[in-house]
Amino acid sequence: MKIEISRQNNLSGEIKVPGDKSISHRAVILSSLARGQSRIRGFLESEDCLHTVEIFRQLGIKINKQKKGVYTVSGSGLDGLQEPQSVLDCGNSGTGMRILTGLLSAQSFYSVLTGDKSLCQRPMERIISPLEQMGAQIWSRRGGMAPLSVRGQKLAPLNYELPVASAQVKSSLIMAGLASGEPLTITEPGFSRDHTERMLKNSGVPLDKEKLTISLPGGRYKLTPLDIKIPGDISSAAFFIAAALITENSSIILKNVGLNPTRSGFLEVIDKMGGSIDILNKRKTAGEPVGDLQVKSSSLSGIEIRGDIIPRLIDEIPVIAVLAARAEGRTLIRDAEELRVKETDRIEAMVNELSKMGVSIAEYEDGMIIEGPSDLQKGDLFRSYGDHRVAMSLAVAGLCRKKKMTITNCECINTSFPEFEEVLAELIN
Ligand code: S3P
Repeated sequence: MKIEISRQNNLSGEIKVPGDKSISHRAVILSSLARGQSRIRGFLESEDCLHTVEIFRQLGIKINKQKKGVYTVSGSGLDGLQEPQSVLDCGNSGTGMRILTGLLSAQSFYSVLTGDKSLCQRPMERIISPLEQMGAQIWSRRGGMAPLSVRGQKLAPLNYELPVASAQVKSSLIMAGLASGEPLTITEPGFSRDHTERMLKNSGVPLDKEKLTISLPGGRYKLTPLDIKIPGDISSAAFFIAAALITENSSIILKNVGLNPTRSGFLEVIDKMGGSIDILNKRKTAGEPVGDLQVKSSSLSGIEIRGDIIPRLIDEIPVIAVLAARAEGRTLIRDAEELRVKETDRIEAMVNELSKMGVSIAEYEDGMIIEGPSDLQKGDLFRSYGDHRVAMSLAVAGLCRKKKMTITNCECINTSFPEFEEVLAELIN
């Protein structure tokens, strides 16, 4: 599938972005571990999250779709999973694979996890190593890569300092601690998204959080079923926020966007760049802050983005690179080496594709430097690298171009946002 796109100004209207991907994964996982029936509304029906649903069905959990975005899950408790008869396919999802490996390490059965070509090239040593410290038995391909084969075990307590601020690693270890019933203390080097912790607390698990340290006391936990309405995904909203900022005479409203502070670094960046964005109607849904966002065309300036904010906007950096290309002056992004091990090497991908558009951009091992503004007019054929966020970021850049551009290999958008083009079309008049 390819996307063809060219200049669009006057974006207007009110849109809703689909449910949060991180929260959708966790809602299925934790409802499957609760005892009783949970209801999930606003579930993101993208390929990544549907792979997680399918995996829990293979683990013996009854999951029914009521209507679009509404699912019921009949959880059978922390010891209620069954040995799968076949390999578990996580698709493109690092979140699915990493969190599930932690959970499956502590089961009384054997399982094998695999994924697509990109996922089977991503680093899994970061979860294998601490899980092995707990006594987990995990086999991987050379270099700690999937497929992973897990012989479930009784695990030991863990006290561990994470070398990277990663919600996937953190959540994987929390799952191992939860399923093993052994005490667990983990400390992160910086704040990463905290949806797992919030949802576990809502499920009645006595998880303790003191700044960057999380602990579980050990014992037999009982999770209460969830009745959850998942907020819109700020990482999907980011594409339309960026689109409204860099096109002329635009003014849009995004309804019901998740504003969890461990995810909202993007809004802080927009504010610093001089973007016009107002948060309306702040409220809480499912233990998560949400609000509506009003965004208007703006003149942007380059800024420095580095340090602790990086994990709080890690998935938005590709689209921030597009904003930086349109902004006046220099934008410096550092401390973002994690981008190299996402669905693709996102530093390389964005530097290559924005260079083709004529942007003055160079890479560092841990980031990039961009001199704006550029009119983005050069080139006509661009690549997604099979990465959903690269594909959608390039499409946003295309909205500024007089000349039509084509982005190839865009099926990957289905992993997080199958309705991206339809939602964009709602804003075009
Ligand atoms: C996610 C955590 C982030 C993010 C990913 C989703 C999650 O990865 O990039 O898209 O749901 O836990 P890391 O925690 O590895 O940085």
